[in-house]
Amino acid sequence: MNQAVVLFDQDHQNHIELLAQRFEVIKKLDSLSNKHAAKNKIEVKGPRFVLQFLSGKLSLLDRSLPKIKPIFVDFAEGKNAHRSQFGGGISQPVAKAVGLNKQRSLHIFDATAGMGADSFVFASVGAKVTLCEQHPVVHALLEDGLQRASLNAQAHKITQNMTLLPWGENKNSLTFLESTETMFDVIFFDPMFPARQKSAAVKKEMTIFHDLVGEDQNEDRFLDVALQKVKFRVVVKRPKLAEHYANKTPSFIQEGKSGRFDLYTINKIA
Ligand SMILES: C[S@@+](CC[C@H](N)C(=O)[O-])C[C@H]1O[C@@H](n2cnc3c(N)ncnc32)[C@H](O)[C@@H]1O
Repeated sequence: MNQAVVLFDQDHQNHIELLAQRFEVIKKLDSLSNKHAAKNKIEVKGPRFVLQFLSGKLSLLDRSLPKIKPIFVDFAEGKNAHRSQFGGGISQPVAKAVGLNKQRSLHIFDATAGMGADSFVFASVGAKVTLCEQHPVVHALLEDGLQRASLNAQAHKITQNMTLLPWGENKNSLTFLESTETMFDVIFFDPMFPARQKSAAVKKEMTIFHDLVGEDQNEDRFLDVALQKVKFRVVVKRPKLAEHYANKTPSFIQEGKSGRFDLYTINKIA
């Protein structure tokens, strides 16, 4: 796992201290922004990734790409908010794949929460979502995004139905599923896949995310464990031409524009 560094910040001292405990190597740097470093040709030593509060948002900076904007989770503005207002609701491919076009009040377990975009779509059409994220930096970004969303009436209406499992024992969804007694209606699984080379800045964001998180380490047995903890279906997001997860043939395939959803069905959603 790549190291990240948490930038010390007087205004968020307590929060930073808490986050700092989650990382193996913590260095508290003084506030030196990437822009400042690039402009003044200062060589920035230390890990490639930095977490810093910028305008009140916990943000990820990649020191090897100082021109790329910091990455943070935002449910109140930007892509997520726009998608929830104009994205087509239950007709969105990911919402259909989990069955929200049939029943809106499903309890979904998002086993690979990432930046929370898919979960936000589920919650925006009425689902209750439990989110699990195992990467400490991604978890911290998501947790911060959810906290800020609670201060925005519009976003909070949606995010109040999203529960991120707290950092700690439950960080890996396989071990969580093995130990929980909860039966979910649907389990959604979107593991990492190799990043494709794209030049646009938006895609750079994906490359940074990919470099931070690394290759997928999930075991094939994830699917079997998930199938024992679900009432209706397990949905696996796959790249268009990828083989089926764990070479297991799905009950149904929903093709999308840039990828596909493999559905493993236990019961029909009425
Ligand atoms: C492709 S991203 C998911 C993107 C997400 N669907 C979204 O909308 O932002 C995969 C994420 O799942 C996390 N992850 C992968 N396997 C996991 C596991 N077994 N338990 C918890 N998190 C996992 C990775 O750390 C990464 O952040």
